[in-house]
Amino acid sequence: MKIEISLLDSQRFDIKVAKAVEFNAADLGDIEAYCISNDIDLLIARVSTNEISVAQDLEKLGHRLMDTLVYYKFDYAKKPAPQNVTPFVIRNVSGNIDYALEVSSVAGEAFAGYFGHYHADSKLDRKVSDSIYSDWAYRSTIDSSVANAVLGAFIEDKITGFITLRINSEGYGELALNGVSPVFQKRGLYRALVLSGMEWLHQSGLDQIFVSTQINNISAQKVWTRLGFEMDHSFYTFHKWFK
Ligand SMILES: CC(C)(COP(=O)(O)OP(=O)(O)OC[C@H]1O[C@@H](n2cnc3c(N)ncnc32)[C@H](O)[C@@H]1OP(=O)(O)O)[C@@H](O)C(=O)NCCC(=O)NCCS
Repeated sequence: MKIEISLLDSQRFDIKVAKAVEFNAADLGDIEAYCISNDIDLLIARVSTNEISVAQDLEKLGHRLMDTLVYYKFDYAKKPAPQNVTPFVIRNVSGNIDYALEVSSVAGEAFAGYFGHYHADSKLDRKVSDSIYSDWAYRSTIDSSVANAVLGAFIEDKITGFITLRINSEGYGELALNGVSPVFQKRGLYRALVLSGMEWLHQSGLDQIFVSTQINNISAQKVWTRLGFEMDHSFYTFHKWFK
């Protein structure tokens, strides 16, 4: 079992937030005790969708379902990626503060009123939930410990979409945060960004590439499946308020 206080979420929402992952039914008593003894306001618990009885135990203890995350995988060892033919200019914008501001603003527009677990919790301030994505996008662009690279899609010298890339220490690649400005959606920008992100990670020596989203994010999953990504695993996210 892993449980720890989330400093970032605690700061953002001005409450004490903890996160629990990789636990089973036998850990539930320890998780409750940890939250009580550490004066936790909100616990975010993630459980595999294979563990339906653990999910039901969480429900009995007052945890509420906030979202379901699906993870897809592309494996270069099994097949090549489709050709990346795109009219858009896509560049690595990491390390540039001006671009970080542009990426952050695209994320703010793309994720306004999104349907992740923060937005699904009516007790959390929606404006703060919106700002999580723009803040994450900004930090990803300027801080290489958050993302190894951030690709921007340019239309007339302006960033209109972005994708953040992570080289995971366990030897796989991740397409982490990605979004396209609403006015530029439905033009194939996202497909081009995902393909360019896959290429960047593959050129960095990685064969396996993961990407995840909420199960009801149909547009993102349409793009991934058309590019050859396959469903790999999934998680439920629960929230429990202790006060
Ligand atoms: C998901 C997202 C990146 C797709 O960007 P995009 O540039 O429009 O993607 P594409 O143009 O490559 O199109 C992808 C498919 O999704 C559809 N689509 C895109 N935006 C849509 C919308 N707002 N509503 C319904 N369908 C949409 C497109 O029509 C296309 O499907 P089609 O070929 O059957 O018509 C964009 O909608 C977005 O930024 N969403 C908010 C953030 C997000 O969900 N990020 C991804 C998960 S972290």
